[in-house]
Amino acid sequence: MSEKKAKVIYSRDYAIAAVDERIYGSFIEHLGRAVYGGIFQPGHPQADEDGFRRDTLRLVKDLRVPVIRWPGGNFVSNYFWEDGVGPPEQRPRRLELAWRSMEPNLVGIDEFARWCKKAGAEVMMAVNLGTRGVSDALNLLEYCNHPGGSKYSDLRIFHGKKEPYSIKTWCLGNEMDGGWQIGHKNAEEYGRLACQTARAMKMYDPGLELVACGSSSAGMRSFPAWEATVLEHAYDCVDYVSLHQYYGKRGEDTANFLAKTMDMEHFIKTVASTCDYVKAKQRSKKTMMLSFDEWNVWYHSNQADDDTMKNRPWQFAPALLEDHYTFEDALLVGLMLITLLKHADRVRMACLAQLVNVIAPIMTEPDGAAWAQPTYYPFLHVSNYGRGVALRPVLSCEKHDTRDYTDVSDLETVAVYDEEGEALTVFAVNRDLKEGADFTCDIRGFEGFRLLEHMEMVSEDLTARNSAKARNVMPSRAKPGELRQGLYRCRLAKASWNVIRFGKTSVSSRA
Ligand code: AHR
Repeated sequence: MSEKKAKVIYSRDYAIAAVDERIYGSFIEHLGRAVYGGIFQPGHPQADEDGFRRDTLRLVKDLRVPVIRWPGGNFVSNYFWEDGVGPPEQRPRRLELAWRSMEPNLVGIDEFARWCKKAGAEVMMAVNLGTRGVSDALNLLEYCNHPGGSKYSDLRIFHGKKEPYSIKTWCLGNEMDGGWQIGHKNAEEYGRLACQTARAMKMYDPGLELVACGSSSAGMRSFPAWEATVLEHAYDCVDYVSLHQYYGKRGEDTANFLAKTMDMEHFIKTVASTCDYVKAKQRSKKTMMLSFDEWNVWYHSNQADDDTMKNRPWQFAPALLEDHYTFEDALLVGLMLITLLKHADRVRMACLAQLVNVIAPIMTEPDGAAWAQPTYYPFLHVSNYGRGVALRPVLSCEKHDTRDYTDVSDLETVAVYDEEGEALTVFAVNRDLKEGADFTCDIRGFEGFRLLEHMEMVSEDLTARNSAKARNVMPSRAKPGELRQGLYRCRLAKASWNVIRFGKTSVSSRA
């Protein structure tokens, strides 16, 4: 056993909130090979009767993603949804400006909704508030959700889709604070437009859940004034404000990279405080919830993407944003998931951006198989075992400083208690890169619980990657510790992702 000690207490009394399963959402944009060659590839040996890749679908289903944001992203800000409905052979090809690609519109609303159904997910639809506005959002809503007897619902029926798609969650544009966004707006302009669009959409159905664009990252100069101004206009009309954040490792060491969840934590707290400031100012009774609808690691592909976008002719489904993730990226993804769970009281939706081929946990070979990146596994574990009530860790462990962060805890952890299944799952990352830790997990409040399994993901090589041929980074069974009188004592390996499951029954492993 190593010298270093860490201890955490978990009790039902320290509940953060019931986890909204929609925090395990994801995102598919018409970008690179996410749609074409990712989820949809007629002619591929794995293609089903609708042209969807079965191998991709299998990996997606295992992740149990409840909601998938679509069709963008930057793409949505100049998207004409009408291009993607009706007979596929009659659909136009468009110059897609956001990612400088050729868009054939072979996957539109109907195809995507069908794919989501197969994946067991709901569509989270984004509307174009870049080059379009209120009336187009309303037309799209009518096409998607109205049963029939009106212009757009009848058009859908004419296209052979009798049943409406009944889409509940809608994003009011994408990253409208960003200068790169087609139809970018200032906070006043966007706040007014978001509110007008939301009001009109709720005239049709007050039960819709609407997400206003927050900042594109905590690093935006306009953050958090953007949120304050947008919400001054839209507080009453919307239900969520979005957060987007990607982290990269640029000229820094691993310790600094793995400390970036301190920034994420600060981001979430600041957005929540800004919402509460507007709530107080407007004497509102409503508490605004957060939708962290783009989050991930993203940096490996940056240079190649620049080159493809600047120096190549318009291409159909070019390989863009294809980050090949490492083991240390998977540790940060695990840390980001822990951070989301620690804020389950305010973060009610979140989307791992993205799902297939584009900064994604799942990759596909054009003529070969689909495979899982190292980042796939922490998501798989948390999505499968992180349903229930998130419990606040009462943690004591050592801390360290990195280039940009001070007092970084060596260990990060959170637990989720599933009352129905009588199970408690502890997620933990040891971000100490040199030493393992003697870990004591106090679960004395969970009488009769025993250890079901302790999984870990470790690697001597922080830069280890997977490929279609090599699964170098995979979870495995850890050497189990001992559970005595409610105290579980084990070793957490240096630089490790851990999933420790306790329960009354011997439920078999889902993930
Ligand atoms: O997910 C990739 C891109 O990142 C999205 O299109 C955009 O919203 C964000 O900047």
